[in-house]
Amino acid sequence: MIEKIATWERGKNQKLKPPIVPGLPWLGNALGLTNDFVGFLVKSYQEFGSIFRVNVPNQSFTIIAGSEANNFMSQVGDNYLTLDEIWKSYSQEYGTDVFISRMEGAAHRHLRQVLNRGYSREAILAHLPLLVKTTEQMTDQWQIGQRIKVIDIIRQLVVRQLGLALANYESDDYFHDLRHFFCVNINVAFKGWSEKALRRRDYLKAKARVMELGRKLIANHRAIPPIDRERNFIDDLLESTDENGQPFSEVALIPQVLSPFLGGMETTANICTFMLFALLNNPDVLDRVTAEIDAVLAEQRLSASALREMKSLHGTAMETLRMYPSSPVLPRSARESFEFAGYSVERGEQVMVATSVCHFLPQFFPNPYTFDIDRYHEPRNEHQQPGVYAPFGLGAHVCLAKRMTEIQIMTLMATLLSRVKLEIDPPTYKLKTIYNPNLCPKNFWVRLVERRQ
Ligand code: HEM
Repeated sequence: MIEKIATWERGKNQKLKPPIVPGLPWLGNALGLTNDFVGFLVKSYQEFGSIFRVNVPNQSFTIIAGSEANNFMSQVGDNYLTLDEIWKSYSQEYGTDVFISRMEGAAHRHLRQVLNRGYSREAILAHLPLLVKTTEQMTDQWQIGQRIKVIDIIRQLVVRQLGLALANYESDDYFHDLRHFFCVNINVAFKGWSEKALRRRDYLKAKARVMELGRKLIANHRAIPPIDRERNFIDDLLESTDENGQPFSEVALIPQVLSPFLGGMETTANICTFMLFALLNNPDVLDRVTAEIDAVLAEQRLSASALREMKSLHGTAMETLRMYPSSPVLPRSARESFEFAGYSVERGEQVMVATSVCHFLPQFFPNPYTFDIDRYHEPRNEHQQPGVYAPFGLGAHVCLAKRMTEIQIMTLMATLLSRVKLEIDPPTYKLKTIYNPNLCPKNFWVRLVERRQ
């Protein structure tokens, strides 16, 4: 239990500063945040309200949380909060400032517009057979009785699917380089790792390979225009200009063309893994979802309309995104001083918008720690209350691929569940989670029990 404290500290402008959540000397709140990051933020919100401060060694963060913070973020938050500093070291690794998560204003809106079509629901729907086939290829390789470490295998599949579907490229040979490059960069940008990690030989080798992949993607698309093949977002980028009408340089194009290979690695893959865990751990839900998939696929092949009929599978995906958010907070810094809920936040402060706190508040999601796939349908529609459900972020930087991702998750899971029967191995496994770098299940293995087709 956190003890409530009154703080009377005032900021430079004499306005009250948000309360500090009590912690240990030097360590501050590091233990609470490491043990259960979201749980700690939920408890602190319940104790202190929608704004408070937490400390970890050498760093301090202002947290804003609850529906008031989420509504602030979706309405005006981008006027006061910026991502520029947060993603600086990451984008510098590409040698360019043209990095979507870091951009703002007209340049950002313009780039989103260029990428929109290629990241849309429709773009991935054109590749449903490919998503099905690649998932089947994965399950076909498994032997009866084989133990499978889910996150590893799903991560490779997700990256493979996104590369093929969005960028027309089979990326298996680059998988380990992509992962190494991504993890080191995220850990340096967000987890306080020393920048020395960016100078290590293994990292530099991976980085060189990732840049090689970027250049290859650009060259391939330039060499073979989209006449006898599906047009994709790289073609759109190559034919477009920046917001001032100037062509994007090769260096500026590289982070954009690599985005599908990195964007799903720690998000879509983690969600599919948690979803499998939640299903195997809730046999009633698994039976319902499997029966639904079987019934729909008995009548038609997997298609957009077939997916629309899989309401239980959809509820399962939505509930997984609520309970296991891969991006539980939006990291920002204050672009200028502002007031929130009567407290002052000063220019340059590190702020986290704890978008996922509402996911665990019983006033919005009754019995929030129960996996309940019926929250998202009439008459409950719990996610439709304003500012309570935000697994894909809020505001100007909301996930560009969110509609597409829903299709990929449902297709992958429907195909997997229609093909194989799995069980958790060992059956006594209790879910443990780690941030690696995003939230994922730790040591979660399954065993192939039988083939269903
Ligand atoms: C379950 C899967 C996913 C989740 C939960 C997710 C979540 C998010 C979140 C929370 C943000 C906002 C970050 C912020 O504002 O600080 C974001 C942004 C973004 N996501 Fe996703 N994402 C997912 C999948 C993907 C995939 C597969 C791709 C690429 C193919 C992708 C591409 C992007 C891009 C490009 C942005 C930056 C948008 C901008 O800055 O304007 N995401 N995502």
